[in-house]
Amino acid sequence: MNELDSKEIMKKDKEFYVQGYNRVPIVLTEGKGAILKDIDGEEYIDCFAGIAVSNVGHAHKRLVKAASEQMSKLIHTSGRFFNIPQTLLVEKLAEITPENLKYTYLCNSGTEAVENAVKLVKKYAYSKGKAGAELIALECSFHGRLGYSLSLTGQAKYKKGFGTYANAPGVVHAPVPYSYRSKLPEDEFGVEVALAIGETIDRHTTGDVAAFIMEPILGEGGIIVPPDSYFRTLTKILKEREIPFILDEVQTGFGRTGKLFASKYWNLKPDIMTLAKGMGGGMPIGAAIATSKIAENVESGDFFSTYGGNPVCSAVALENIAILHEENLIQNASKIGKIFFEGLEDLQSKYPVIGDVRGKGLMIGIELVKDLGTKKPATDEAKLIVSFLKNEGIIIGLGGVFGNVLRLQPPLCINEEQANQVLSKISQGMNIL
Ligand SMILES: Cc1ncc(COP(=O)(O)O)c(C=O)c1O
Repeated sequence: MNELDSKEIMKKDKEFYVQGYNRVPIVLTEGKGAILKDIDGEEYIDCFAGIAVSNVGHAHKRLVKAASEQMSKLIHTSGRFFNIPQTLLVEKLAEITPENLKYTYLCNSGTEAVENAVKLVKKYAYSKGKAGAELIALECSFHGRLGYSLSLTGQAKYKKGFGTYANAPGVVHAPVPYSYRSKLPEDEFGVEVALAIGETIDRHTTGDVAAFIMEPILGEGGIIVPPDSYFRTLTKILKEREIPFILDEVQTGFGRTGKLFASKYWNLKPDIMTLAKGMGGGMPIGAAIATSKIAENVESGDFFSTYGGNPVCSAVALENIAILHEENLIQNASKIGKIFFEGLEDLQSKYPVIGDVRGKGLMIGIELVKDLGTKKPATDEAKLIVSFLKNEGIIIGLGGVFGNVLRLQPPLCINEEQANQVLSKISQGMNIL
């Protein structure tokens, strides 16, 4: 497999792969913990974890063992049969997610988790004699790139060229709690934006709303952390109007933010939680976990997936959850997150291009601006830093609605020394701007 060099791989990719996204020009071949290696033997400190996926680190021995043991017994059953890891996994998810959530549907990705959550709330509305005509999502959000998940995504850049496919009927977007770009004090802004959801419902819907969906911390949108006041008002509004709450923890889940789920920061009790990414340690698995009230309306034939709940993915996900706890990786996310935040805030005081440093645990965003007053996004500068760091052996992510937010989302096993190396390279990077 390794007979091709990186140039040949990239050339072949151009020739045969649908060019639907820009890739970082690195051919990865190996990983260990928070270190990645490319085809030429170059090493990188991984600060992106395959987009917040490899939370327990790369090539974790226990994940390899869980996968190979299950593979040597049985790789696939289809959803037509029971399998042991799948049953143990859904039991575990009921134990570790907010206590009102009980029934899980297993699928293969975050997008599918969101699609299935939409089906669950539509069926719930139907069971109550309603149409569930609308779904409310947030501007700047990201929920996937197919069907409803793309329609719910609140960013035009993912929708161009897809016409009505990207705008399913009934999807309405409400303002985002992006406090860095507001002039109001954070607390006041949080309440105002949450109240805007009520106004959105009154002005733009029939009132027969199937659900409200949001990420507790917006990931692709630029690591946007809503003010605490936002959630207090939001949950009140949803309760008063009896609107089901879907919390998309696809990116924030499984220790990423320094808690097992970000919902814990605000004691949120959603009606459905969507999960994927960090759940399977790199195996393709997703889940929608719902309350009994919602799940009990599902009838035989409503849902099915050939691969969903695959025994290998389920066995690895179970082991992954055990490792997160047994190796104290959630605590490590808080500890190393603190080192990053202190270092980055220090850099912020020295370099005016750093407009904002935000996030929780190891879900960190650094928003670059051309001017601290106007907050004009420094998009080219952000790209330059990503490329500088890559050449210095550090992989980070880039995001935000303006493409100006540097994202640090490393494996949760990253250590202090690696974090300090990353900080020192970011500091060097600031000097090239
Ligand atoms: C919050 C959120 N939801 C859904 C998705 C879609 O997940 P996937 O790429 O696994 O389909 C993502 C992916 O980035 C995400 O961040």
